[in-house]
Amino acid sequence: MLGIESSCDETGVGIVSGTTLLADAVASSVPEQVRFGGVVPEIASRAHVDAMVPTLQRACETAGVSLRDVDAIAVTAGPGLVGALVVGVAAAKSLALALDKPLYGVNHLSAHVAVDQLQHGPLPDGCVALLASGGHSSILRVTDVTADVEPLGATIDDAAGEAFDKVARMLGLGFPGGPAIDLAARDGDPGAITFPRGLTGPRDAPFDYSFSGLKTAVKRWLAANPHAPVADVAASFQEAVADVLSSKAVAACRETGMDTLILGGGVAANSRLRALTQQRCDAAGIRLRVPRPALCTDNGAMVAALGAEMVARGRPPSGWLLGADSSLPVVEPLVP
Ligand code: KG4
Ligand code: ZN
Repeated sequence: MLGIESSCDETGVGIVSGTTLLADAVASSVPEQVRFGGVVPEIASRAHVDAMVPTLQRACETAGVSLRDVDAIAVTAGPGLVGALVVGVAAAKSLALALDKPLYGVNHLSAHVAVDQLQHGPLPDGCVALLASGGHSSILRVTDVTADVEPLGATIDDAAGEAFDKVARMLGLGFPGGPAIDLAARDGDPGAITFPRGLTGPRDAPFDYSFSGLKTAVKRWLAANPHAPVADVAASFQEAVADVLSSKAVAACRETGMDTLILGGGVAANSRLRALTQQRCDAAGIRLRVPRPALCTDNGAMVAALGAEMVARGRPPSGWLLGADSSLPVVEPLVP
């Protein structure tokens, strides 16, 4: 199964055989986005056009296969930036048509869950997934990653990664902000400043997130304390995000009776989030599965992993009218 990902700023082409990873080639337009401090959709779309064929060739070389050896093509149909998605969908349809292979248009969020099969083996019959990235922060109940994915909650404003990116900018740490804050926080005191934990009151939605108040709190705090050590602010901010992300995900496992939690998305690469979630899962008797960082950030292998699972479970391929859907709902793992 060859998988193509182009929903945001990474052009990914992955090749898998069942749950075995053969190649995961990624080209990123982040270097072109840095001077804007965020992802400019039009730049991302054009970068996908430039990177698609070379990335495809690189994946085939790494896997030691030719395109004719591929049995099926999977592609992210949504959600994501529409102009970016269109490039991947057009590439996948062209390949599938030219090679006369089945085409599977899949959901990006489900793919973030399915990718863990490449590292930790088959998914259990039921689990909870916490997905946190620059574009999404959601808690999902996953009974069947190809057909039964139910949203339990999501962010009502900024995504977690977006908060990392915005706070890093306030701290002069550059873009993308997550890795920069993670690094800066190592020398800081996470208890130095108590930043707010959004939506954790008794009447708040138990599995929804809000990061915009936290972002404003950091901004106000910096205005009042202009000479504060950057490391302490980074560590305290990171602690607030990791605390609320992990506590709600563990609570969702308890509430649904699931004993496996899967983390995914770029923010799952965060060292404090990984450590704190592990600690809380251990205390609650929950098995935590976190793919390695390269599989957490956007990549083509995750799309191929979900495509392979579609075939394994006998799901029918998508039709030739498959299009990009920027707001594809999470309950739709496969686009007909
Ligand atoms: O999943 P991803 O590659 O793309 C999106 O779908 O958005 O996630 C990118 C996001 C960025 O906001 C980036 O700052 C964040 O993930 N990120 C991190 C870390 N590495 C990447 N956030 C916190 N800690 C990290 N180590
Ligand atoms: Zn993603």
